Amino acid sequence: MKYVTRSGDLGKNKVQCIVVPIHDSLEMSEPAANLNQISNGQIARVLKRGDLKNKPGDTVLLHDIANCNIQRILLVNVGPKGDLSTIKFILILKKLINVLKSLPIKNASICISNIKCEDKSLDWLIERAIEYFEAGTYEYIEMKGTSNIERTLNQIEFLCDRPSLVAIKAGIKRGKALAQGMHLAKNVANAPGNICTPTYLAKKARQLCKGNADLSLSILEEKDMKKLGMGAFLAVSQGSDEPGKLIIINYRGANKAQQPHVLIGKGITFDTGGISLKSAPSMHEMIYDMSGAASVLGTLSCVAEQKLPINIIGVLAAAENMPSGRATRPGDIVKTMSGQTVEILNTDAEGRLVLCDALTYISRYRPASVIDIATLTGAIITSLGSVATGLFSNNDELADQILNAGEFAFDRAWQLPIWEDYQPQIASAFADMANIGGKEAGSITAACYLARFAKSYRWAHLDIAGTAFQGSGPNKGYTGRPIALLSQYLYDRI
Ligand code: BES
Ligand code: MN
Ligand code: ZN
Repeated sequence: MKYVTRSGDLGKNKVQCIVVPIHDSLEMSEPAANLNQISNGQIARVLKRGDLKNKPGDTVLLHDIANCNIQRILLVNVGPKGDLSTIKFILILKKLINVLKSLPIKNASICISNIKCEDKSLDWLIERAIEYFEAGTYEYIEMKGTSNIERTLNQIEFLCDRPSLVAIKAGIKRGKALAQGMHLAKNVANAPGNICTPTYLAKKARQLCKGNADLSLSILEEKDMKKLGMGAFLAVSQGSDEPGKLIIINYRGANKAQQPHVLIGKGITFDTGGISLKSAPSMHEMIYDMSGAASVLGTLSCVAEQKLPINIIGVLAAAENMPSGRATRPGDIVKTMSGQTVEILNTDAEGRLVLCDALTYISRYRPASVIDIATLTGAIITSLGSVATGLFSNNDELADQILNAGEFAFDRAWQLPIWEDYQPQIASAFADMANIGGKEAGSITAACYLARFAKSYRWAHLDIAGTAFQGSGPNKGYTGRPIALLSQYLYDRI
């Protein structure tokens, strides 16, 4: 979809469809009042009849507006004035794009600058609009070539006057960059396990770096990881015919001396569980076990596009978790790059095994902060459902920065503790630790395991198992989360 600004007199220009907010059943926004006057009260008459229902996002379509060149007006209920919450605004955007894409129009013009949503600025409204319009029109079509859904809509115009122009343009820039990053990440994450292998992730990372002079790529192959002593990472990838890779993307937006922010994504391209094999019914969902890695790719694309003046290291910890004659057995003990040994009691707790060696490796960058992003535990779905991402951190200031970024971008996280009290759950008889912590508090013990490898810097862990994807049905797919949170976190670091 194209997003542009449009200025000028509403009554004069030819318009296929203009979207006009209505505060509640009878109160008109400024542009609505304007059009009402031009059309000798056409809008007021419709509102009076009660066709526009009283829920936010409800719409009524008017055709052939009198005395002007407007083919359609879509009236949208945006709730009572001064009472539009972020949640309602997002709901309106989702409903609106569904209506617009069902109409036989090529472009739609939206009066957005009169909408007031909490204390949000106009550029924020535009950024979110583009984010949700793109989400509402996204389809994964790589495997079938073309879409079977008919849609003509290909341009959204944000109506602006002189005072709103700068903010609208800034919002379009942000929104487009975010949408582009999310689109890339969705296409990578939705690709099935036979296509999306660690080698494929490396290829996608290479393509991203080729397109931007500030991005450069380096890859640790299994032989390199062996030299570095990454026994935990290799314990996961050794069961697969697909070679594991630690893919490192370096974004240089600022002076070399500036410490980088590090993002590490879990990139298990398919998680069978290994010898601790998962059960059949929902195993197919595990194509999404590389969503963390996809979100790192998407975030880097988003911020590099905007030439953000900071340094970032993106790491994709890419491996496939398979059962085979070479696979790790439950009970095997391996040595991590940190020197600590791990008793692998369950080969299905593989995410923490690839991540712990990545966490050790990146300490060489002297990071300003480290965030890992992982579809790590089913337990986080029990705790937080698909609404909030689980957040764990060894630094309260960093945790607050991440929570605030998520709140602002409406890509929310919720913090859980990693108190010492939980550590005994991962004690092992024969090694420094076990890779599982029993039935209780599974997301917390997973985070406690990671914390043992992240002691030398400010670190946070995002468990996105509940928020990254919907596993089945017509809406199946990667959600793009937490790219909006991560890019906002990085904007806030400037
Ligand atoms: N990738 C899974 C976690 C997961 C489950 C993500 C469901 C998305 C949806 C992870 O590797 C895993 O298998 N975790 C185990 C850990 C257990 C063995 C301690 C789990 O959550 O069951
Ligand atoms: Mn697993
Ligand atoms: Zn997994």
